[in-house]
Amino acid sequence: MNIFITGASSGIGEALAHEYAKQSSLMRGANSMPESRTVIGLAARRIEPLQKLAADLHAQYQVTCAIYPLDVRNSAALQAAAADFIQNFGAPNIVIANAGVSRGTLTEHKEDISAFQAVMDINVMGMVHTFQPFIASMKAAGQGQLVGVASVAGIRGLPGAGAYSASKAAAISYLESLRVEMVRDNIAVTTIAPGYIRTPMTAVNDYKMPFLMDSDVFAHKFAGAVKNKRRFVVIPWQMGIVARLMRLIPPFLWDLAMKKAPHKKRIDWDWL
Ligand SMILES: NC(=O)c1ccc[n+]([C@@H]2O[C@H](COP(=O)([O-])OP(=O)(O)OC[C@H]3O[C@@H](n4cnc5c(N)ncnc54)[C@H](OP(=O)(O)O)[C@@H]3O)[C@@H](O)[C@H]2O)c1
Repeated sequence: MNIFITGASSGIGEALAHEYAKQSSLMRGANSMPESRTVIGLAARRIEPLQKLAADLHAQYQVTCAIYPLDVRNSAALQAAAADFIQNFGAPNIVIANAGVSRGTLTEHKEDISAFQAVMDINVMGMVHTFQPFIASMKAAGQGQLVGVASVAGIRGLPGAGAYSASKAAAISYLESLRVEMVRDNIAVTTIAPGYIRTPMTAVNDYKMPFLMDSDVFAHKFAGAVKNKRRFVVIPWQMGIVARLMRLIPPFLWDLAMKKAPHKKRIDWDWL
């Protein structure tokens, strides 16, 4: 099994790498196979956590990891990473575009224009940059699965999160287009919309997060949804019910409901 994951240096991506490595080790044990048969490509900007994760997974599960320190906004960097991964390990079975950022934004602030650009570039174009260079090898192999991490925040516009909600709404529509495009090539496309998951991204939230789920529990459910080739799934399931209701609420009721909704604080954008 060959898997490529972006945003692997923390949170959900890191938990997914652990989950797939654990599954591979369990399968190896069950089949008494001495050699590791799973290769995981780990991509993110920070090299140190990627190196540590690769070393931990090798020590704990004897899994081979290839690390790719890169920015998903850089299409050429992903082209190079994909070429290297395919040359060394073959076409991936699963590519997970998980890298993403979330920050509070307000349109009235001129300084937030660059923030909007960055969030869209990372959360939307980063996904396109991640999938594109792998598709030809999957087509040639006659199999493969592209998995995109969206968000419940992409179902309706949330206050104070114009950039994030817009980026995740775009991701949801983009992934649906991709899914129907890829059907004839036997390449499955899965959209995962997480609710609130305990990661560094949500650690900064100072409001109550309903149905908050630990990242290892989430990763196990995520891998199950991918295995079952689900088209669109919200995890945890309770947030799936909330997401369905969100879709049904008419705009005037949504405005009322969002009047006092908590949201991420707007911050300065020197992190970009
Ligand atoms: N946690 C939640 O409740 C929640 C809910 C809904 C959706 N999500 C989505 O789940 C995904 C993972 O989030 P998380 O909660 O695990 O957050 P996280 O812990 O902050 O992880 C984000 C990951 O994305 C990587 N990343 C960010 N910008 C990047 C860039 N320009 N290029 C390459 N990698 C980049 C980060 O690595 P580097 O900093 O090393 O680059 C990190 O590995 C995101 O798409 C997020 O929107 C999360």
